[in-house]
Amino acid sequence: MSDFNQKLNPPPFKIKVIEPIKKTTRGERRKWLEEAGYNFFNIAAENIYIDLLTDSGTSAMSDYQWAGIMMGDESYAQCKNFFNFQGIIRDITGYKYVIPTHQGRSAENLICYAFDLDHTKITVSNQFFDTTRANIEISGARALDFVIQEAYKPSLIHDFKGNIDTMALENTIQNEGNVSLIILTVTNNAGGGQPVSLANIAEVSKIAKKNNIPFFLDAARFAENAYFIKLREKEYQHLSPKEIAKKMFSYANGCIVSAKKDGLVNIGGFIALNDEQIYRRITERMTVMEGFPTYGGLAGRDLEAIARGLTEVLQEDYLEYRHQQLEYLGKGLEKAEVPFLKPVGGHSINIDAKSFLPHIPQSQFPGWALTVALYEYYGIRAAELGSVAFGRQQEDGKWIFPELEQVRLAIPRRVYSQEHLNYVIDSVVDLYKNRTKITGMKITYDPGVLRHFTARFIPIVKE
Ligand code: F0G
Repeated sequence: MSDFNQKLNPPPFKIKVIEPIKKTTRGERRKWLEEAGYNFFNIAAENIYIDLLTDSGTSAMSDYQWAGIMMGDESYAQCKNFFNFQGIIRDITGYKYVIPTHQGRSAENLICYAFDLDHTKITVSNQFFDTTRANIEISGARALDFVIQEAYKPSLIHDFKGNIDTMALENTIQNEGNVSLIILTVTNNAGGGQPVSLANIAEVSKIAKKNNIPFFLDAARFAENAYFIKLREKEYQHLSPKEIAKKMFSYANGCIVSAKKDGLVNIGGFIALNDEQIYRRITERMTVMEGFPTYGGLAGRDLEAIARGLTEVLQEDYLEYRHQQLEYLGKGLEKAEVPFLKPVGGHSINIDAKSFLPHIPQSQFPGWALTVALYEYYGIRAAELGSVAFGRQQEDGKWIFPELEQVRLAIPRRVYSQEHLNYVIDSVVDLYKNRTKITGMKITYDPGVLRHFTARFIPIVKE
């Protein structure tokens, strides 16, 4: 007998408030799908049973955070919640200047401005998240991804598939000469929530220093990354997640953060850094388009909820539970040989739709077809990261399809129970067994850019 029975990984919290979710019929869902042009962005959220579209802004807050909401000081400038927010972020990151923003993408926009990005500049990452890339490209600069090659092999097991290829980074710096900013995304969302090792972060830091290039972390999921380091990088296993997070930040010059993930809140973000000049540039700009530097587009109560969320997310029992929840989902799917990106990521399971539906060619959008079937049969919403999201149609009408065709099941934090996960496992496995019945999709309206938000489809009916 042990001092605590961990076998079943029970959550380190209990339920105080519930939010009803609706069990609907397949007939109803077929009708809604048809009306929505088979696009989830047109389906009312209340008609979804399990929502795995994203882990962003979907966390359940704790009683401690809700109590903090009541402590909101809504003064325009210098509200007391800002000082708590600043203190906690300084403590975790070690950076002197802390700037709140309304979410991650405005932090990205401000950084692009502050570093004067334009068409003469290059930025490099392991893999930029879509909005980071979009902000950089709007500024005119180029955004290059150099995640290690292992990241592109879905079934290959590797401890740190989010690592950047440091050789490719160095070569680009030498050959191009105008690399102006390096950003490591931790964990690497575009690559399925795969972690970056401290060794890799340290190496990038060395290269950045040697070449005098600013180095930032896109740290939306910094706590999940820290926990992977604790589990997989032996020399750090004796450290707490907070100590590891501090180390991660210590190697970079600053960070941009969407607090909607590891901040355990529904809205918010921040920038933290040491460089006073860059800090000044950001605060000048943000006052015009984001808000005064002590609130940055947020209410005082939001700042308090983020401050409290950031302390909770680093608690080891929470991170252990979070990690185990993802592992549990992965094991359930693996048992039935459902193909997905290995190893299990920090916040999502990414199903390999090409292998799941080998009978559907990419020109018929297998990832999209899979998300439609998941909703039609089981009321589950997932996100397509495949031909619809990333495919490009050339001027001659020819399509260029992405290498990976994925469907992301992102797990909101502290929201779904093991019973919900059992429902998801059972549904995906059932669908896998019946996969030959799933047919491809045809686009009936294609807006071209940001297709997944507004495109319309019809299922291809079998002859
Ligand atoms: N960086 C990363 C790594 C992200 O995953 C996101 C958002 C952002 C930046 C932008 O932050 O949404 O607060 O403006 N990811 C969400 C997702 C949208 O579903 O993965 P934001």
